[in-house]
Amino acid sequence: MNSDVSVVILAAGLGTRMKSAMAKVLHRAGGASLVEHVIQAASSIARPEQIVAVVGHQAARVRKEVEHLGTRFQEQTEQLGTGHALKTCAGLPGLGSGRIVVLYGDCPLLSPATLQRLMKAHAEHGCAATVITTHLANPTGYGRILRDEQGRVGAIVEEKAATPGQKQVSEINSGIYCFEAELLWQHLGRVQPNAASGEFYLTDVVELLRESGHATVPLVVEDPNEILGINTRVELADADRIFRERKVRELMLAGVTVERPETVTVDAGVKVGQDTIIGPFVQLLGRTVIGADCAVGACSILENASLADGAKVHPFCVIQDSQLGPGAEAGPYARLRMGAAVEEEAHVGNFVELKKTRFGKRSKAMHLAYLGDATIGEGVNIGAGTITCNFDGRTKNPTSIGDGAFVGSNSTLVAPVEVGEGSYVAAASIVTRPVPKDALAIGRAHQVNKPDWAKNRREKRE
Ligand code: UD1
Ligand code: CA
Repeated sequence: MNSDVSVVILAAGLGTRMKSAMAKVLHRAGGASLVEHVIQAASSIARPEQIVAVVGHQAARVRKEVEHLGTRFQEQTEQLGTGHALKTCAGLPGLGSGRIVVLYGDCPLLSPATLQRLMKAHAEHGCAATVITTHLANPTGYGRILRDEQGRVGAIVEEKAATPGQKQVSEINSGIYCFEAELLWQHLGRVQPNAASGEFYLTDVVELLRESGHATVPLVVEDPNEILGINTRVELADADRIFRERKVRELMLAGVTVERPETVTVDAGVKVGQDTIIGPFVQLLGRTVIGADCAVGACSILENASLADGAKVHPFCVIQDSQLGPGAEAGPYARLRMGAAVEEEAHVGNFVELKKTRFGKRSKAMHLAYLGDATIGEGVNIGAGTITCNFDGRTKNPTSIGDGAFVGSNSTLVAPVEVGEGSYVAAASIVTRPVPKDALAIGRAHQVNKPDWAKNRREKRE
């Protein structure tokens, strides 16, 4: 990392074309805000203290969103254009010399590799500035690159100011530049407000540099996706799709099978081990970590989940902030939340919900149960329809079930309550008192049989 490189990220605009009350750079694609993506890319060429984010619209929210990344911030109180935004950084310590890389906060797909290429190209030609460009089939909305006789950038003309002839130019300005700091600050001060919009365009600095005999060299990139500027929600969706494709491709190349990859959503920070199979329409979000030889069935959503090797999530599960041990299984249609843990080889089946519950090794709850605030030992069988009544209207109370216990179907465990090791709870019991170790608890009304009652009733009607 070169210590004479600083990065300025322009992120102060509202983004009128988003039609949103929220600042554009806070909108999310690929599991992170636009500005966070840009700062992450910038971090590949500069240390956080050499990165300055220019904030303005909802400055406090933008700062809060990315303060964990450790960058500096500069306020642009009035949004008078990209040139004005950059000028607010003139005179900041550390930015007076060396190189200044300028990025726009609405360009989230830029890769570290392309930034490295920019730095390399700039160092090689040694001119005043380098600007990344690309050719677009539909360049509408972007600034157009006007080349001079030497093939360098003579000027950049914005869509609004472009003549019909200039609008035909397919080479566009990405908004990603590397400047010699001293020359930038000298000439940026001379940029005049645009006649039509009244804004100070950063792009005008190129012409001013040229007039003083300083060249700007284009660096053409082939993949236009990298420099997609997000101005509308349609472009936001495009960026999201590209992020998802990139991540899923990365997983597949690392040995993960992804079925119908175009339907799968995986956040950037998610990790998945080899030979794991991800079904269609799965979403893996946040800090989810999945081991090797796992399976995640169709339509399951995992957020901050952790799966040990060989764990299986059947289709249609929702797992949040919870974990599965080695060889454990959940679903189909299981819901795990708030720190639930299904331990080694244990299995929770259809329509079973676990909240803040530790579910011990080889235990089973195969159908229709709610287990909340419970500690369940090893080899326990939880019958269909078992409910922990963990909430008394005021507080949440714990349930504890010992190793090897058998809880019959449709049992109601009124917490706080303990079911002892090796005990039995008869089906349909309401358990309000502790069940001793190895005991049988029956907590239901006695059955009464009335002979011929039904037959008599039928006959009376006829
Ligand atoms: C800009 C470029 C255009 C380029 C395109 C690439 C200019 C004048 N035009 O146009 O040549 O093709 O990006 O995507 O630079 N911002 C501020 N303060 C302001 C204004 C903007 O911080 O006063 C920030 C915005 O938050 C945004 C970025 O600068 O992140 C770009 O602004 P935007 O209005 O989107 O510029 P474009 O019209 O897209
Ligand atoms: Ca833009």
